[in-house]
Amino acid sequence: MKWIMSEYLTSDQLKEFQEQFLAWYEAAGRTYLPWRQNRTAYGTWVSEIMLQQTRVESVIPYFQKFMAAFPTVEDLAKAPEAEVLKNWEGLGYYSRARNLQIGAGQVLAEFSGEIPHEVENLLKIKGIGPYTAGAISSMAFNEKVPAIDGNHMRIISRLFQISDDLSLSKTPKKFAEISENLLPKNRAGDFNEALMDLGSMICTPKNPKCEICPLKNFCQSYKEQTQEDFPVKTPKTKAKDVYYVALALGNSSNEFYLEQRADSGLLANFWQFPLVAVTKEEFAKLSTETADLDLFSVAEENFNETELFLKQQFSQLDFSKIVLQKRSLGNIQHIFSHLKWHVTLFYGRTTDNATPLVNLQDTKLPLPKAQHKLMALLVKNGYDF
Ligand code: ADE
Repeated sequence: MKWIMSEYLTSDQLKEFQEQFLAWYEAAGRTYLPWRQNRTAYGTWVSEIMLQQTRVESVIPYFQKFMAAFPTVEDLAKAPEAEVLKNWEGLGYYSRARNLQIGAGQVLAEFSGEIPHEVENLLKIKGIGPYTAGAISSMAFNEKVPAIDGNHMRIISRLFQISDDLSLSKTPKKFAEISENLLPKNRAGDFNEALMDLGSMICTPKNPKCEICPLKNFCQSYKEQTQEDFPVKTPKTKAKDVYYVALALGNSSNEFYLEQRADSGLLANFWQFPLVAVTKEEFAKLSTETADLDLFSVAEENFNETELFLKQQFSQLDFSKIVLQKRSLGNIQHIFSHLKWHVTLFYGRTTDNATPLVNLQDTKLPLPKAQHKLMALLVKNGYDF
C-alpha cells in the first residue's frame, strides 16, 4: 500500500515542519563537528565511513588524524595499505579502511579524481552503500536525497507510527520513500544532519526527550504516547563465542614476536601475538586451572600437560629456545559484530635471535584492538615493552 504524505501533513504543515526543524538545527545542532566545518566531499566520505558502527566522540580524533595524514583522495589512494590501517588502528571494522582506500583509487581511475554528486555513481564506489551515498550526495552536494540509517528510521517510524520491521532488508526503501516527501528543496543536507542530531540527542532509542523535541507537534507517537512501541525491530542473534590462546614471546630487550594474519577474512593482514583457536573446554582449563597457581611455586608436573598442549598448538614455533611462564596472564574479550573472542594469554621468554622480534611501542605494523588489550594485560602483569 502506498504511503501518502498528505494523509499525515497538509502542504502548509509540511512547510512548517521543515522550517521549525531547520531552525532547531541551526540553534541546537552539533555544528562544531569537524567534518561539518569547511565541508568537503572527501571529508564527508571519510567521516561517514568512520561513523558506521562507531560513536561520534570516538571518531573525532581519528578523523582529524586521518585527514592530516591523507589530506586528499589522491594521498589516500597512493598510501601504503599498512599506513592507512595504522591510522585506523583502534577504530575497528578495518575492512572500512581498506574499502575506503580502494574507493579512493576508483575515484582517481573512474571519476577523474572528482567524487561524484549522484547517488547512482556514488554507489559504484567500494564501501559506499545507500545510506552513505545519500549522506554524501545530500550533505556535500545538497542533492535532495534521503540518507536512511537506524536513527533516521527510528524518527520517521515514531513520527508517523510506521510499523515495518527494521530488521528486514526491504524496510529502508519504504522509509526512503517517506523521507523523500519530507526533504526541503534547497537544504536536504542540513535536514539529514538535523535528523542525525535529533536521533542522537532527543529521539533516542530509550527514554526519548519528547518534551523538548522540535517535532513533537507533528509526531503521531507523541500524541498517542506510543514512542516506546517504535521502531519495530526483531532482535539480532547474539554474537557467537569463540575461544583462543595467545602467546606473547619476548626477549630480554622486551621485544616481541608477531605473526601476520591471513590476507583475507577478519582483520586481514593485521599483526598479533601468535593466536590459535581452542575449544571452550580447553579454554576453561588453560585460563582457570593455571591462572591461580603461583608463578614461582608451581610444581613442574602441574604444568606439564598445559605445556605439552601449548607446544602442540603453536607447532609453528621452535620451543627449544623458549621458556614458558607457567600460568596464563589472564583473559581478554573482544566483540566483533558477529563474534565474541575470548583470549587467554601466556608468556614465553625466547633466546632465539634469528626470529624477528619487534618493539611494540613504535612498530609501524598495524595492530588490532584485541592485540592492544593483550598488550595491556602484559603490562598489568609487570611486563614492559
Ligand atoms: N552519524 C553518521 N553520520 C553523522 C554525521 N554526519 N554527523 C553526526 N553523526 C553522524
